[in-house]
Amino acid sequence: MKVYRLDPIGTLDGLKLGDEAEPRPGLREIAIRIRATSLNYRDLKVATGTYERSEIKPRPIPLSDGAGDIVEVGPGVTRVKVGDRVAGIFTQRWLGGRIDPAYAASALGGPSDGMLAERVVLSEEGVVPIPAHLSFEEAATLPCAALTAWHALFARGRLTAGETVLSLGTGGVSLFALQFARMAGARVIVTSGSEEKIARLKAMGVTDVVNYRATPDWERAVLELTGGQGVDHAVELGGAGTFAKSLAALRTGGSLYLIGSLAETAQVNPQRILAKRANVHGIQVGSREMFWAMNRAIAQAKLKPVIDRQFEFGDARAAYDYFASRAHFGKIVVRGA
Ligand SMILES: NC(=O)c1ccc[n+]([C@@H]2O[C@H](COP(=O)([O-])OP(=O)(O)OC[C@H]3O[C@@H](n4cnc5c(N)ncnc54)[C@H](OP(=O)(O)O)[C@@H]3O)[C@@H](O)[C@H]2O)c1
Repeated sequence: MKVYRLDPIGTLDGLKLGDEAEPRPGLREIAIRIRATSLNYRDLKVATGTYERSEIKPRPIPLSDGAGDIVEVGPGVTRVKVGDRVAGIFTQRWLGGRIDPAYAASALGGPSDGMLAERVVLSEEGVVPIPAHLSFEEAATLPCAALTAWHALFARGRLTAGETVLSLGTGGVSLFALQFARMAGARVIVTSGSEEKIARLKAMGVTDVVNYRATPDWERAVLELTGGQGVDHAVELGGAGTFAKSLAALRTGGSLYLIGSLAETAQVNPQRILAKRANVHGIQVGSREMFWAMNRAIAQAKLKPVIDRQFEFGDARAAYDYFASRAHFGKIVVRGA
C-alpha cells in the first residue's frame, strides 16, 4: 500500500511516500481504507520537529485526521462492521471521562502512526461513525479542529443561545468555533489579519469582524462591539502573544479556552486573570464521548465544514506547503490514495 512517513523529522522534505505491506487487523482491531485526511497546525509542528507536547515516535505516519470505510475486521470485533464509514479519534485511548496523561502516546499522527496512508489499522474502540450527510473529505476535517472547538464551547463552556463568542483567525479550529456558535444561536466576533478572508467571512454572513493587523488594539474593538461588556467565551488560539488581549476582551467572569500557540511571544500577568474573575480552561482536543455528541449536533444541523482546498494523495507535500503559507481559510484536505 502507499504510505507517507516523516523520515527524518525536521523539515517538510522529510515527508516521503513509500510502499509497504498492508497492515492486517488483530484481535478487536479494524482496517480502514482511508478516503480523505486533513491538516492541522500540529501536523506542521510534528513534521518540522517543533511539537513539544508529546514524544513523537520514529518515522511516524503523519496526520491525526482521517476518514474512510472499514474494509476488514479482526477477531472479536463487535462495535463496527465492514462497510461502516468512520473517522479516527485523535487520542485513541481517550474514550470518555477525564483526560489521563497516560493516553498521550495514543494520539495519532506523531506519538502513534497517523492517517496519511492507503490503509490503517486501529482498535475498534478508536473510531466513530461519521454523519451521513458528510462526504469522506468533509468528515476528515472533524477529529482535531472541530472536536477542539466543540470541547471548548460545549463540553467545557456550556455555551447557550444569546451569548457572545470571540474566535481568533480563520483557520480550522476558529471556523468550527464560528459555525458551532452560530448553530447554538450565539453571537460570534472573529478576528483576521487578511482583508480577503474578512470578505469571505462577510460572504458567510459574519458581520462582527476585526482585522488584528489594521487594528493592533483589537481587544478594544471587541469590547466596543459588546457595549464595553466583553465576550462570554474566548477561543484563544494565539497563545502567549494574544492571551492578554483575549483576556482583556472577556467579560468579568467569562471563560477563556487556551487552545493554540500561533503567536507565542509575550509575557502573561496572572493577576489579570484574577482581575477578570476569568475561568481559564486548557483544552486538549476531545474524547470519543465528545466526538459522538458533536457528530449528533452536526448531523442534526446538517452543518458542513468549510474546506478551502483539496489535494490528491500524491500531492500531500503541496498540501503541507499551502498550509504553511497560511493562505487557507478553514480546512485543507488530502484525498485518499
Ligand atoms: N489544544 C489542542 O488540543 C489544539 C487542537 C487544535 C488546534 N490547536 C492549536 O490551535 C491553533 C489553531 O490551529 P488550526 O489547526 O486551526 O490552525 P490553522 O488552521 O493553521 O489557523 C491559522 C490561522 O490562525 C490565524 N492566525 C495566525 N497567527 C495569528 C495570530 N498571531 N493572531 C491571531 N490569529 C492568527 C490566521 O488567520 P487569518 O489569516 O484569518 O488571520 C491563520 O490563517 C494552533 O496553535 C494549534 O496548534 C490546539
